[in-house]
Amino acid sequence: MDKLVIEGGKPLSGTIVIQGAKNAALPILAASILAKGTSTIDHVPGLLDIEVMLNILRELGCRAEHTEGTVVLDTLAAHTSHVPESLMKQMRSSIFLMGPLLARFGETQVYLPGGCAIGERKIDLHLEGLKALGAEIEELGNRIICRAEKLVGADIHLSFPSVGATENIMMAAALAEGRTTISGAAREPEIQDLQGFLNAMGAKIIGAGTDTITVDGVQSLTSCRYQIIPDRIVAGTLMLAAAATRGQVTLQNTKPAHLTSLIHVMRRAGVQIVIDGDIIKVGSSARPKAVERIVTSPYPAFPTDLQSQMMVLLTLADGVSIMKETIFEGRLKHVDELSRMGADIRVDMNAAIVRGVPRLYGATVEATDLRAGAALVIAGLAAQGKTVVEQIHHIDRGYDRIEATLSHLGARISRYSPVPNN
Ligand code: EPZ
Repeated sequence: MDKLVIEGGKPLSGTIVIQGAKNAALPILAASILAKGTSTIDHVPGLLDIEVMLNILRELGCRAEHTEGTVVLDTLAAHTSHVPESLMKQMRSSIFLMGPLLARFGETQVYLPGGCAIGERKIDLHLEGLKALGAEIEELGNRIICRAEKLVGADIHLSFPSVGATENIMMAAALAEGRTTISGAAREPEIQDLQGFLNAMGAKIIGAGTDTITVDGVQSLTSCRYQIIPDRIVAGTLMLAAAATRGQVTLQNTKPAHLTSLIHVMRRAGVQIVIDGDIIKVGSSARPKAVERIVTSPYPAFPTDLQSQMMVLLTLADGVSIMKETIFEGRLKHVDELSRMGADIRVDMNAAIVRGVPRLYGATVEATDLRAGAALVIAGLAAQGKTVVEQIHHIDRGYDRIEATLSHLGARISRYSPVPNN
């Protein structure tokens, strides 16, 4: 398994262009199946998760090419709506295919994606939403069979603003007969991007970004060309890496409005942040200040996907901070690894009490999930000495060649791939 080796203690500096958003590209690639034809999607990042989604679409009969950030996807020849279990297991987000496949083929077979390092990852809200649209759902062990002669618009209320459930329902409702309203909807920017893509294909959807989305079903959709929004979580990760190493970094191709909660918290920690259109400049020359209380919540509140990366900055702050994780029940696994680097963190239920220390020390640590892995890289960049981050395939799921990005900003970081012992 590949690993990253980092020589810490060097402030990051320079300018970087932010990649397209993984969590917008995945549902949009799934949604392309709703139209028979060739869609072209720009700014799709080169990530493991993206390649898995493209492989699933190829398995369903589509032709997909991913060249220099552009995906050309021909869905005309799609001939099956059964997603192989082996591919479902590679990526939870394949559950996004349920809605589009049901809408296009009238039936689909998928597998329960199962839990992962950060939590149980239930899909009850997805299934309830599709049932409300007229789907019959059969669960045979971990296999899920959905059938619908016809999808009919309905008023759906989500008891929790689930991102994936909101997206699955939007995609199925786009071709349903009549009007669907989704109240209690998730408000993430990636949902607004999915609405933009669906409407570019001829759908009639309004309200994405608010807690009520209205979909007027249409007879058919047409392939289109579309550009993915910048990845706010990658941008936030690099902002925190700049602050934790007391560097000066300029990010281009950002949407600062998607990062309001992070910018607010980082400014409370004493980090200088200057916004100029789609450019964010981050600078820090002093020890950060503790932030009394940060609670992860659905957008636009502080995002769970930046919780572990923000915690690294807090481990070096002057004072005691409290970080509470309310979205995923298992998303504090990075605490043990950070403690091995000298951090002073105590976990109480779903809250981490972080007492700042003068410095972190390099160590060999293990990535347990995508964002925890990114946090350990930031810790290694800030630490004194050498850090080895193992199991970095987790990181490659969401960051396009992270070592190249960080090297470009002056980091001393290399990837090591063990020679296969054949
Ligand atoms: C999306 O996951 C993102 N993934 C996650 O990013 C992100 O952390 C999450 O939204 C929250 O913002 C993609 O977009 C591909 P949810 P999703 O449905 O859709 C519970 C990353 O690092 N829930 O909003 O799976 C669930 O158990 C990833 O890029 C139900 O109970 O998130 C969880 O506790 C990680 N029933 C909470 O809601 C359901 O039917 C949030 O889940 C669905 C969800």
